[in-house]
Amino acid sequence: MADLQGKNAIVTGAAVGLGNSYAHALAAAGVNLAVCDLREEVLSVPGQLEAHGVQCRAWQGDVADPDHVRAVVDGAQAAFGNIDILINNAGIWGGSVADDGLDKSLDDYERIVGTNLKGEYLFGRAVIPLMIAAGRGGEIVNIATDHMVTCGTPFDLCPHRRECPWADSPRPTGGGDSMDLYDVSKWALNGLLFAWAKALAPHNIRVNALCMGATDSHMLRSFHNFDPSPEEEASWMRAEDNARVLIELLQEGPGGRNAQNLNFCVGRPVQLEPPHPHKYVKGEHVQLAAAREGSA
Ligand SMILES: NC(=O)c1ccc[n+]([C@@H]2O[C@H](COP(=O)([O-])OP(=O)(O)OC[C@H]3O[C@@H](n4cnc5c(N)ncnc54)[C@H](O)[C@@H]3O)[C@@H](O)[C@H]2O)c1
Repeated sequence: MADLQGKNAIVTGAAVGLGNSYAHALAAAGVNLAVCDLREEVLSVPGQLEAHGVQCRAWQGDVADPDHVRAVVDGAQAAFGNIDILINNAGIWGGSVADDGLDKSLDDYERIVGTNLKGEYLFGRAVIPLMIAAGRGGEIVNIATDHMVTCGTPFDLCPHRRECPWADSPRPTGGGDSMDLYDVSKWALNGLLFAWAKALAPHNIRVNALCMGATDSHMLRSFHNFDPSPEEEASWMRAEDNARVLIELLQEGPGGRNAQNLNFCVGRPVQLEPPHPHKYVKGEHVQLAAAREGSA
């Protein structure tokens, strides 16, 4: 089990919700933190984490703004000397449908894709060269959604998989018809997940994604106009449980799973399931990437 004590992490969108829980869980494991968020409350996160005896720096800004990304990454590097873990969490939900008008659609695109995809892309691009140069390996975890993991139930674990009409063909997603851009922004993370995992495996940098269903947070409450039914609320997963699994995932270390979407669905225990049997990052990717580097 990898020891996280003394490692350094960036968590985006850490003021409230899942990101805040990730920051608390990492600090409890002894990880120094650089946190950022659009919300001013992020500036109080270092005070919240003081009791764990870790160092913490906070920045307020937009993950889609390259200057902000540069400030956070350079600031973390200067404060801690290197960055071992990147948790790409900042995200927003917004309703969008196929027949929305063009003006609303452009605005939605900038906000939703800008935050959920561009933010993760920029933070990755800023952090990865530093991780490679440090030669200490690393961990990147992108926060996605269960909408991108087919129907919401992992196929291998589904009790109905034998009757599943989509077993041998593309299966339906949990995404509905009223958030096409949100789903686009999260599905696109698969591109980063697989390409980064393959390219970074030779550097002992793992890339995985957490794909959760309804988890109690500011976002989910705003989706329900802050007035969920008691039944709805009782069904939600807890951010603290998701954060516990994140720590277990990081503790797998460089030999652990890679390029995997970890699915957490309502009604199932929130736990680190065994790695998916399909290996997206194979030995040949590592060799090919090493050869590319050697000839560069
Ligand atoms: N809660 C759920 O049910 C759920 C389900 C699936 C996926 N997710 C994903 O989990 C992640 C966290 O969501 P949450 O539920 O904790 O949401 P949340 O709204 O409670 O917290 C998200 C945080 O990100 C920050 N943020 C938003 N846009 C930002 C930007 N442009 N720049 C910097 N910070 C920004 C917000 O200010 C907020 O503090 C998101 O990526 C979300 O898509 C959540």
